[in-house]
Formats: sequence, C-alpha cells, structure tokens
Amino acid sequence: MSKAKIGIINVTSYMGAEVARLLYRHPGIELSFITGRSEAGKKLGQVFPHLSQLHMVIDSAPGEADLVFSALPHKAGAETIAPLVDKGVRVIDLSADFRLRDSSAYPLWYGFEHPVPGLLEEAVYGLTEMYRSKIQRAQLVANPGCYPTSAILALAPASKAGLLHGDVIVDSKSGLSGAGRALSLKAHYAEANESVVAYALEGHRHLPEIVQEVEAIKEGAVALTFVPHLVPMTRGILSTCYAPSAGKLSAGERGIAELRQIYRDFYQGEQFVQVVDELPQTKHTLGTNICLVYPTIDLRTNRLTIVSCLDNLVKGGSGQAVQNMNVMLGYSESTGLEQLAVYP
Ligand SMILES: NC(=O)c1ccc[n+]([C@@H]2O[C@H](COP(=O)([O-])OP(=O)(O)OC[C@H]3O[C@@H](n4cnc5c(N)ncnc54)[C@H](OP(=O)(O)O)[C@@H]3O)[C@@H](O)[C@H]2O)c1
Repeated sequence: MSKAKIGIINVTSYMGAEVARLLYRHPGIELSFITGRSEAGKKLGQVFPHLSQLHMVIDSAPGEADLVFSALPHKAGAETIAPLVDKGVRVIDLSADFRLRDSSAYPLWYGFEHPVPGLLEEAVYGLTEMYRSKIQRAQLVANPGCYPTSAILALAPASKAGLLHGDVIVDSKSGLSGAGRALSLKAHYAEANESVVAYALEGHRHLPEIVQEVEAIKEGAVALTFVPHLVPMTRGILSTCYAPSAGKLSAGERGIAELRQIYRDFYQGEQFVQVVDELPQTKHTLGTNICLVYPTIDLRTNRLTIVSCLDNLVKGGSGQAVQNMNVMLGYSESTGLEQLAVYP
C-alpha cells in the first residue's frame, strides 16, 4: 500500500507541531509539506529542536497532499481551507471554523461572518467516538475543541441514557498550552505560576459547541453552564460535570454501580476513552490520546458527578486529529497513538 501524502498548515502552532510529532513514527504516511508563516524557509529542527528528526523545511504555502491538517487560528482556517476543499483535498481543521452547524453563531461567539457558510453542512464534527462512520467518508472534518472533548465525553453516556435532568454544570481546569503559543500577559510565568483563575464566565467560545453536541445526543434543549479555569501546568484538562440525577437509577451505592455500567457499556471497545474506578488526574493522560472518565453520584444531593481528563494537545487536539486521519484513510485507529503516559 502506498503511503498517503500528508500536509500540515501552521506547523509553528502548538497543534501543528504536535501533529508533526505524532506522525513521526506513523508507518502509513509521508509528510509532503509543512507551512509556517513566520518561519518559512527554515529547517523544522531550527524552530523546534525536538522535531529535527523529521528533516523537513518549513514552506510558505501549502503544496500537494492527499490529506491536510490545518492548525490555523479561527477565520484564517476557513479562508485557507475552502480552496483546498474545492480542489478535492481532504482536510482536518483544528480550529473552530467548521464545528458549529449554525453560521449565525460565528459573529456572536467568534466575532466574524463565516466566509464559507455552505461548507458547514458538509463538515463532520470530529469527535471520533460519536461520528466514526461519517468521519470515514468525510472530506472536511472539524476537529473538536479541547474543553468540548472532555465535557462531551463525560456527559454523552448520561445524556444518551436520559439521566441528565435540569441544569448541567461543566467546571473545567486547563493547562496554559490551551491558550496557544502566541504570547499574552495572562500566560507570563509571573502571572500564571502559583495562581488559578476562572475566566469567560459570561460565555466561553466553547460553550455553544458543548451545548450543540450534548443536545444532539439528548435530542432536546439542555441548560448548561461552563466555567473554565487556567491552572499553572503546561498540558492537561480536568473537567468535573454536575447534573441533578433524573431519578432513573436505584438509590444508594447500587445507583452508582448502575451508572458505571452505563458508562462502561457506552464506551465498550473504545481504545481512547477509559472508564476508570479511581479518580483520574491529568498526569495519567500526559502525552497520550486517552480520555479518562470517572462517573459517580453524590448520594447526599443525588447529583451526578462525572470527572474526565485528557491532554489538551493530544486527545483534546492533535491526537484526536491523527485518530480521525486514521479513520479517514482506513488505518488502525491507534496507529501512531499507542504511547503510554509520561510519568512522573
Ligand atoms: N492549544 C490547544 O490546546 C488547542 C486544542 C484544540 C484546538 N486548538 C485550535 O488549534 C488551532 C491552533 O491552536 P494553537 O493553540 O496550537 O495555536 P497557537 O500555538 O496559538 O498558534 C499561533 C500561531 O498561529 C500563527 N498565526 C496566527 N495568525 C495567523 C494567520 N492569520 N495566518 C497564518 N498563521 C497565523 C502564528 O504563527 P506565526 O508565528 O508563524 O505567525 C502563531 O505562532 C487554533 O485554531 C486553536 O483554537 C488549540
């Protein structure tokens, strides 16, 4: 079988560099181009010494490829991708530009009119565990956001089983790489170290994405509050999701056992979502494509409490994108993604 030619647009972002790292040992592909606006003409190893073994030079514009990863910021992503899709190239977009189905949500949440609203219908939301068969045939995959991946994977089994009732709260903590590689005051060491801060309480951009997908599972409206926090670590997201139980489970410990069984059944056969019996922590997922999910019930209040965690740069972004590429190209889903977590 000949190797698929793969391109990476914006390799100079965290997401682009992480896709390159994950593809290094992938036996079924060859990297045909990598682009990066500010570093074009340089060897990749000059910009990212940890990627020097790839022996690639950064291009200024996309070249020929069967499948392209785009790791551009929102708006720039859609503008660059549209002509590629027109030419028949398969694209996995890591930005938010094709995640929301309703084009009128873009001015509201992202501050721009969508330049190619017609493509929103064509794009497949790239949460692999939910949309695998559509992803297989897709030309354009909208890779999910990092917070949404952790929240949707935590809530999906409960939602599907009709257990979510009333208000749902998603409380998430993220490492600083979630904010990207571009410099900003909030990411300065002196600002972020030994400090935890909540932000975007009036509505984070990932809120409509989480609501869209939880409502698609539930097939009905959901009242969802999402509160993200920045914590002083490099990678990782831990989300704790709360919802009043709909009263469909038995009382007491038996209800907790039933809930866990619902989660195990839902994710049976999935390699990258593991329902665990011990409380997970971000370090358990560091560098891996795995999302750990721990469902329980607060028996005093009868509140479902579901903890999920993942590495935002891997399952929350580039790893999931490579998982989707494997599905699209017919490779085993875990090819290139089999590494264990880094410890300690
Ligand atoms: N970080 C995460 O955890 C995460 C997770 C999931 C999805 N995402 C999404 O993935 C995409 C990349 O995220 P990231 O965090 O990796 O980004 P990032 O590290 O912040 O990337 C920023 C880079 O993008 C380039 N850039 C900025 N504006 C551009 C433009 N108009 N045209 C071309 N290049 C431009 C700049 O490169 P130059 O220096 O070369 O100008 C800059 O270094 C974003 O859409 C983001 O929302 C991020």
